[in-house]
Amino acid sequence: MTQTREYTREQADRFIRESKHLLRPDYRLNYHLMAEFGWMNDPNGFVHHDGQYHLFYQHYPYKPVWGPMHWGHARSRDLIKWEYLPVALAPDTEFDRGGCFSGSAIGKDGKLYLMYTGHVVTGPDKDRDYKQSQGIAVSEDGVTFEKHARNPVIGYDQIPEWASQKDFRDPKVFERHGRYYVLLGSNDGAGNGLALVYRSDDLMNWTFIGELARSDGQFGDNWECPDLFELGGKDVFMLSPQRMPAQGEQYRNLHSTMAVIGAFDSKTGRFEMERHAQVDHGFDFYAPQSTLDEKGRRIVIGWMDMWETDIPTQSGHHWAGAMSLPREAVRQENRIIYRPVTELENYRCNAYSEADIWLDGERELPVGGDCYELEVVFEALQAEQFGLKLRVGDGEETVLTYRSDDQLFRFNRDRSGIGPGGERRAMTRLVEGKLGLRIFVDKSSVEVFVGDGEIVMTGRIYPGAASTGLRLFSTGSCRVASLRKWDIE
Ligand code: FRU
Repeated sequence: MTQTREYTREQADRFIRESKHLLRPDYRLNYHLMAEFGWMNDPNGFVHHDGQYHLFYQHYPYKPVWGPMHWGHARSRDLIKWEYLPVALAPDTEFDRGGCFSGSAIGKDGKLYLMYTGHVVTGPDKDRDYKQSQGIAVSEDGVTFEKHARNPVIGYDQIPEWASQKDFRDPKVFERHGRYYVLLGSNDGAGNGLALVYRSDDLMNWTFIGELARSDGQFGDNWECPDLFELGGKDVFMLSPQRMPAQGEQYRNLHSTMAVIGAFDSKTGRFEMERHAQVDHGFDFYAPQSTLDEKGRRIVIGWMDMWETDIPTQSGHHWAGAMSLPREAVRQENRIIYRPVTELENYRCNAYSEADIWLDGERELPVGGDCYELEVVFEALQAEQFGLKLRVGDGEETVLTYRSDDQLFRFNRDRSGIGPGGERRAMTRLVEGKLGLRIFVDKSSVEVFVGDGEIVMTGRIYPGAASTGLRLFSTGSCRVASLRKWDIE
């Protein structure tokens, strides 16, 4: 294993320590994980190990822009309060000298294994000329990782000839019936994303067993960050398809996230797709990864930003990128619902509640803020539309609206503040004429869980600090059956 010394973990840690005081606090989130300094994208190596959750992330500490990828590392007992640990991986060996790209983690014999993509630039155009292979790093203490001497453990020569010889990344490792499997994202070179499956008995020697699934033209031209897990007796394949065409109101971002219910055949590696849906219907949610915890919960977390959109903290703030709230995925027949983990409730304070509010027009609430949870149940009655305005201030508002005529729930950030605007919509059915919402606001983010969690919408917003107003509104009369709000500490 040849060492290249342009980047080291020690140098990254030192840089972060010495630069942290430069961070501008304005849009820093209070109960979401961000990089300690610099850039963050995908969640990596999400695992419950030795009594704690570990979450790694794609990280470039030196600037708030994407660069040669390191793995940042944080640890938590409750998924909400995170402790930063030293940078786990730096692009310091031959096979990963262009970056330690996304990957996953698994515990074995008391040790923690990371499996990740080594990215190498092979020519003058770094966006076209590259190759990718998979490596392993191991830790005894869950803090310091040693790269395996024989990396890569899945080399360029193990890519089937019909798959892209360049896009071969984001290993998600899991165990089934006592054997290890890994999924990798790729494409067929003709505009269709696909995923490959390899098997191993020791995490070191891998054999290609088959193609998990492939797009037929409607699911994007390259697949990133594949994941596979059991959920309530079925298999779920979760992925991030690039440049997937929209389907009605779904898949409207440049890159999407999708969860498919179906059946995985571990002998052939084949996944039979039954039904798919978007994981998050908002603006900013990508590259989700899941883990099973000791309570038996399947927890999904995503990067709460999107490629090729403007992130205002990139200029002058010294940081960019955040993780979504951790969400528990539950299967309800042929759909998956997502609920914020219950640990969040431990951070509630300053409770406020009202019930039975008759509404026809706009009503300002005596409470607001920039960091809270809101639970509200609307009864539609005769209203043409109703909803909430969050982070209201001088000319600013973030608007959540349900309209009866088209049954679409809307998240509009055209007047949210600086940063990108736009609207996302999702088909939402009222239950007995009612719509329940759980909304999490945190400095520069909004996450809305509609109904039981059948729709989740996530977006980043960048309002002024004084925009803390909170309003209810309707056109036509409706009733707010209950409203509860807590600040989150
Ligand atoms: C997804 C992704 C992955 C890749 C990583 C690089 O957002 O493009 O496919 O491993 O980000 O940072």
